[in-house]
Amino acid sequence: MTIDAIAAELLDAVRARGTYRSLRVLTGAQAPRMRVEGREVLLFAGSNYLDLAHHPEVVEAAERAARDYGCASGGSRLICGNLDLHEALESELAKFLGQGAALAFATGYMANVGVITALVREGDLILSDALAHASIVDGCRLSRAEVRVVPHGDLDALEAELRSRASPGRRTLVVADGVYSMDGDTAPLAELVPLARRWGAILLLDDAHGTGTLGATGRGTPELFGVAGEIDVWTGTLGKALGSFGAFAAGSHALRELLVNVSRSFIFTCALPPPQVEAARAALRLVAAEPWRRTRLQALAQRLRTRLGERGIPTAPSTTQIVPVLIGGNQATMALCERLLERGFYTQGIRHPSVPEGTARLRITPMATHSEEEVDALADAIVAEIGLA
Ligand SMILES: Cc1ncc(COP(=O)(O)O)c(C=O)c1O
Repeated sequence: MTIDAIAAELLDAVRARGTYRSLRVLTGAQAPRMRVEGREVLLFAGSNYLDLAHHPEVVEAAERAARDYGCASGGSRLICGNLDLHEALESELAKFLGQGAALAFATGYMANVGVITALVREGDLILSDALAHASIVDGCRLSRAEVRVVPHGDLDALEAELRSRASPGRRTLVVADGVYSMDGDTAPLAELVPLARRWGAILLLDDAHGTGTLGATGRGTPELFGVAGEIDVWTGTLGKALGSFGAFAAGSHALRELLVNVSRSFIFTCALPPPQVEAARAALRLVAAEPWRRTRLQALAQRLRTRLGERGIPTAPSTTQIVPVLIGGNQATMALCERLLERGFYTQGIRHPSVPEGTARLRITPMATHSEEEVDALADAIVAEIGLA
């Protein structure tokens, strides 16, 4: 069989499932308004939540780093790629999160895979939420530990698993997303943290979408729930609200030392390029200096939920800047996405395997710099298209 024949056969199966995907081409700087395949639209699909990716201070920091250090780090962290800039970023991230230490990874995907496989192995136990991000799922599979998938947010089911499978001699990892990326709800951290502790489990929290957007100072869901000092391993990305690229794992100094020594997705890859490191550092300063961005982001998301809700379109269980509108069918969802694009709004249709079968949805993400009128106009367009109210 030729490669093209193999591809055609496999793609036929994708098409038959109604999950065929193609890439859209966007033009211009990351902003609330962009060009998608030539048409100017309001962007309600990205994760540049705080509109920092093209902020002058972020861009200037990246430019300076490119001039002074170049566009690559020139090696992996353990082979001549460890710059003073990486160490500075990690110290600042650790301080921001109130953790002992942090370690940068190339992506959030690699951070989750690298942390999970460093901490548990065959014979150990992982308890993971049913809606965990793909990077957590893949990390769990790679670790070869026993993986038990717990119904979403179900603390009783989690405790039952802990009771029946955890034991003092068995390393146990409980994994949760701070914000669930396709539903916009949060992990019940106020209860989850003490539960994991009671059973002697390690808690890994992936707060990819909470970092910079939630909590009084933008530290994310642990700050929102008052448990920021109690997270064993805290991963997050620099590529969403922080407007750059890359990721981190934060925790104790011992954790950092372990990851440097055994985490394969940290060891066997190039160090983050200087412009991305400096962009992330500038964004961290802006998160501290401009709290209005996260306040406004959450207010706009609330406004959207209210506007839709009062016209009969539920957005549950969202309580964050990720606002889903459940449609159900794959084709209906993607057709709605296209019609909204024609009206000048880019919201992303999401299908299996990003979400469970039969729960395809629009995933809407406002930005801190959208106007109230733009959010209202989007709600009106959705109502008009769905045919309610
Ligand atoms: C919950 C969650 N974790 C991790 C990631 C991966 O982060 P990155 O884009 O930095 O690889 C994402 C992004 O898609 C995410 O939504």
